[in-house]
Parts: sequence; C-alpha cells; structure tokens
Amino acid sequence: MAGTINIQVINGPNLNMLGKREPQIYGADTLDQINAGLEKAAAPMGVALKFFQSNHEGAIVDKIHGLFEDRMDGIIINPGALTHTSVALRDALLLLSCPIVEIHLSNIYKREAFRHKSMIADIATGQISGFGHYGYHMALGAILNIING
Ligand code: DQA
Repeated sequence: MAGTINIQVINGPNLNMLGKREPQIYGADTLDQINAGLEKAAAPMGVALKFFQSNHEGAIVDKIHGLFEDRMDGIIINPGALTHTSVALRDALLLLSCPIVEIHLSNIYKREAFRHKSMIADIATGQISGFGHYGYHMALGAILNIING
C-alpha cells in the first residue's frame, strides 16, 4: 500500500504509571519505553504512530471525536479500567470505521470477575489480552495485516 499508514495509540487511566504500578501484573516497562519500542518497530514499516494517554474519560472521548475528522488507518486502544465501565467510550468508538484493536497487558479473563466484561470487545475488530507490552506489537501487526490484505 502506498503512502504512510497512520495509527493512533490510546492508553487510558493509570497507564501513565506503568513501571511503578503493580509491576508483577503489568511489567517493569514505562509507557514511554513501550511507546518507543512500538515506534521503532513501526517506522521501517511506513507506519506513523500517534500516542495519547489520559486519565480522564471525557478527554479520551474528545480525542476519539477528533479522530473522526483526522481519519486514522487504525486504532490501538488500551482503555484501562474504562474497558469495564465506559458506555461513552464504546459509543465514541462506534463513530470510527477503521480497524480498532483493544489490547490489555494482563489477561483480563484470568483476573477478578469485574474485569471479564469489556464494554468494547464486541465493537472492536479484535482483542489482545495477556501478552504484556508485546500485545501492542501484535495489535500493530493485526492492523497492518488488515490494511495490506
Ligand atoms: C488493563 C486491565 C484493566 O482491567 C485495568 O483496569 C488496567 C489495565 C491491562 O492492560 O491489563 O488499567 O487494561
């Protein structure tokens, strides 16, 4: 496919604390380190990544509204705890027509029952859960596979 592929990476609440936050569950890497690793993998593939993290549901909804105009080729989203609660996030994502990959560092199905329900799993293109930061790379590969056919 000719031209740059634009992919937006969105991380929700508390993911700015990666590295400090429950490292036995989420790993030792910071979000900046995860993003840098993803950037390094994406650049040679002609992919331009944009990164956004917020602890605020409304800010993430606003960001997604902006993407409606900006037209991305794909979205990689780890909504953090909003995964389990946010109808607003679900409704915002329904605005978009590009592939959306939901990713979780931990395997949410191996954890507390309240984490087993995702408000966006059935409207996302697919979900990756339990592979740590490699999940972001899997999500990138999945989106490229869809785009490049
Ligand atoms: C998470 C799983 C969520 O249940 C949790 O609230 C998070 C992180 C993950 O990446 O494993 O904040 O999305």
